[in-house]
Amino acid sequence: MPPTIGVFDSGFGGLTVLRELLKVLPDADYLYFGDTAHLPYGAKSVRTVAKYATASASFLEDQGAEMLVVACNTASALALDDICRAVTIPVIGVIEPGAQTAKEISKTGKVAVIATEATISSHAYEKALRRLGVSAIEKACPLFVPLIEEGWVEHPVTEQVAHIYLDDIFSNNAQGADVLVLACTHYPLIRPLLRRLTPPAVQIVDSAESIAAKVLELMPPDTAAGDGGLLRCFTTDSVEKFRKLGGPFLGRPIQDIELIDIEK
Ligand code: DGL
Repeated sequence: MPPTIGVFDSGFGGLTVLRELLKVLPDADYLYFGDTAHLPYGAKSVRTVAKYATASASFLEDQGAEMLVVACNTASALALDDICRAVTIPVIGVIEPGAQTAKEISKTGKVAVIATEATISSHAYEKALRRLGVSAIEKACPLFVPLIEEGWVEHPVTEQVAHIYLDDIFSNNAQGADVLVLACTHYPLIRPLLRRLTPPAVQIVDSAESIAAKVLELMPPDTAAGDGGLLRCFTTDSVEKFRKLGGPFLGRPIQDIELIDIEK
């Protein structure tokens, strides 16, 4: 039987990671935690993100998670060590798998990374890539998260904003970067738009796909298909909003959602 997998994110975005996990491990049981009351993490400090992320991780362990996937790039970048210390179950962050995929497909050894302000300021991807012998060009794209949550995934305003960000990276030929890492849970929703605006020779890596592949790799070889497929979601703010906004991220309607208070 696959383990019960806890998936943690600052809100709805991590549902893109859950979506990828469901493709590779459809029989596992999943507990998804979206800390929507404290969204966005991408503009917050290390101290604040670590406080919320550790409380959320402990909650998932208490609920029976046997493995924790930190879907949130910002939480992985700022608080992975704190999260690992807060729980006794294995923890997988999103940065290393994304960096590893980028390294595997880059021919030039130069990779561009787009993410929230906090992820970029932490240089977590740059450090992970450097350890793999790859250099990084990092660009914060703070306007993408609110635009995507507004549902503006194919919208002229989002396209214009993306133009500005990507031109900034690639106008100078990005010093030879041949890979673009989507290092934020929300960006898979605008992947087609980003694909159109990114030079054709540049390959796109979705960190959600990379972490799902990593989780699959970590499953014991004799993991039998479970009879699972159970999904419970927890949110720290409106259940209705989670249901409405979460659907497009997961790619299907969400039923079982519980409101919880981690600050108690
Ligand atoms: N989940 C965050 C990330 O992947 C994006 C949303 C936020 O800023 O909280 O970085």
